[in-house]
Amino acid sequence: MKQKEYDKIFSGFKGTEGDLLPVLLRIQEKDGYISEESVSQVSRFLRLSESQIFGVASFYPKYRFTEPGRKSIKVCMGTACHVRGGKFLSDAVGWKLGIGIGQTSDDKQFDFQRGSCLGCCTLGPVVKINDKVYSRMQVTGLKKILEQND
Ligand code: FES
Repeated sequence: MKQKEYDKIFSGFKGTEGDLLPVLLRIQEKDGYISEESVSQVSRFLRLSESQIFGVASFYPKYRFTEPGRKSIKVCMGTACHVRGGKFLSDAVGWKLGIGIGQTSDDKQFDFQRGSCLGCCTLGPVVKINDKVYSRMQVTGLKKILEQND
């Protein structure tokens, strides 16, 4: 993002600590995530350290600090899905794509997110790729879906 765009976003705020979350949200709405450069800009604007910014924002799952992939994979780790094998699905995504939770593949094809309950517990374990929900997912089926989406 260019300096002009940061200035435009910051112009709507007073520059107090309480502006942190809404400022980050505005940046994320514009860029799709909060880059290191954005954290640095926010740090200067609000006079907060970068670690303070990460410390507060990382508490809220909606803030993302990695560039989104073209396809976003979310493995539900809510209780119902977890007990039905969500952890195995999460591990399978990691092995297959070589990325961990919160990361984006080098080719920017996929990003991998850990989801809380997606609201369809009886269909678990559930995986969501962009807006499509895959229910009663098994590791072998998930690997095939990832290959089809590659
Ligand atoms: S726990 Fe996975 S959909 Fe509810």
